[in-house]
Amino acid sequence: MITALDHIAVAVPDLQKAIERFKADFGLPFDGTEDVASAKTSTAFFPLPPTNIELIHPLNGEGPVAKYLEKRGGGLHHLCFRSDDIHADVARLKEKGYEFLADEPSPGAHNSLVIFIHPKSCDGVLVEINQPAQDH
Ligand code: CO
Repeated sequence: MITALDHIAVAVPDLQKAIERFKADFGLPFDGTEDVASAKTSTAFFPLPPTNIELIHPLNGEGPVAKYLEKRGGGLHHLCFRSDDIHADVARLKEKGYEFLADEPSPGAHNSLVIFIHPKSCDGVLVEINQPAQDH
């Protein structure tokens, strides 16, 4: 079951500059950075309960976020729904015809399990589903 809007992710060309903006200019609490090798991204999280802002930047200059930045120079990248049973939600949505970018959920930031729905299944919006570490 989907239980919350876990985060909204913004792709940024300069991670340090964007961290300073969200920290100093917007005054959001900063939860630190984390490299997610499997997604080839560096991330920065700003908790804004009950949700978070996630900044994403290519790790080592390559991967899907690098391609996104080349095309658009930054922007709203995806939204993420939190699930309390990701496998059940994936099965339910697959049955309804949703296409996913992977066959199975895999480890993401904060050791959560994550999977992405193809944007063509959601009117052009990239949607992530995650299940926090303590729930799986
Ligand atoms: Co995300």
